[in-house]
Amino acid sequence: MTKPILVIGKNSQLGRTLQKTLQNLSDIFKIKPYINKHGEKLNKSDLNFIFVARKELDLLNIESINGFFQNDKFEAIINFAAYTSVDEAEINIELAEQINHIAVAKLAKISKNQDIPLIHISTDYVFGGKAYKPYEEKDATEPLNIYGLTKYKGEKVIAESGCNGAIIRTSWLYSEFGNNFVKTILDLGKERESINVVDDQVGSPTYAKNLANLLLTMLHRDRTVEVLNSQLNIYHFSDEGSCSWYDFAKSIFKLRNINCEIKPVKTVDFPSRAKRPQNNVLSKAKIKKFIPDLVIPHWKDSLINCLTEIQK
Ligand SMILES: NC(=O)c1ccc[n+]([C@@H]2O[C@H](COP(=O)([O-])OP(=O)(O)OC[C@H]3O[C@@H](n4cnc5c(N)ncnc54)[C@H](OP(=O)(O)O)[C@@H]3O)[C@@H](O)[C@H]2O)c1
Repeated sequence: MTKPILVIGKNSQLGRTLQKTLQNLSDIFKIKPYINKHGEKLNKSDLNFIFVARKELDLLNIESINGFFQNDKFEAIINFAAYTSVDEAEINIELAEQINHIAVAKLAKISKNQDIPLIHISTDYVFGGKAYKPYEEKDATEPLNIYGLTKYKGEKVIAESGCNGAIIRTSWLYSEFGNNFVKTILDLGKERESINVVDDQVGSPTYAKNLANLLLTMLHRDRTVEVLNSQLNIYHFSDEGSCSWYDFAKSIFKLRNINCEIKPVKTVDFPSRAKRPQNNVLSKAKIKKFIPDLVIPHWKDSLINCLTEIQK
């Protein structure tokens, strides 16, 4: 039997989404083996995951990380855990640094020493946002805030460790779980008659379910597993299409028939603790080349799906 794949960040949006996706696959198993559209059979061993939350593995405690990996052995490590409060990170610099950088260095070292791939999630906020085109993996980084800087340092220590695996940068992540823009806007729409939303920051929303599907695809195809096991690559992934936060909010209200006025405002008129990049669009050319038949939904279609899940 293959060793389990360890997922750190059990209760993150991505962690809960991956668990839900796997649960649905397990339901399919009860009826018949799951064969995907490429004729590949997903074996039960492919679904051998262990999810851990902070209480089982606290990234603030380096000793606990060491202890955790002494006892159990894994097929791969997936890290969804992070200090993700962008504005709070400007004040809680030490915390963000510890979780997004120092702990990631430790995970990378373990991955290297135990010769198992590390799959780590990073962010569009490693870029400065001044480009007039979608950001490619090789483009120069220029984080504008502490969150982006600590996530960038996390990427750097993974690359320096010499471990294998993948860093997947994503953007504007949302889901039916946890805190995110879609759920915040829905709440505001119920409480207020009008809201201000910035219209000069552009990006690609990413429904967590689509990223979970990408990870499952990467983890069960022989060719992609071979790549994960033999080198470290950075990939960009988001849904198709792009929009401003204002466009995104408008679509949410329209789909839900919410009668709250949305006023477009500029970033300068919407003060926040952390500076944010203006262009957050990521080029997906590299991941499409890696997995040519990857189906990436448009953000508008994904939004409909997520709103349906929220309503259930
Ligand atoms: N959200 C976005 O818009 C966005 C955009 C681009 C990239 N990303 C990246 O995508 C990944 C997943 O984001 P997300 O939105 O799914 O995350 P999230 O919902 O904000 O959850 C973050 C998770 O990190 C865990 N965590 C925090 N401190 C920890 C510690 N000391 N030890 C162990 N676990 C700890 C939390 O665990 P507990 O619940 O147990 O406290 C929580 O489950 C992150 O790497 C993030 O940087 C997110």
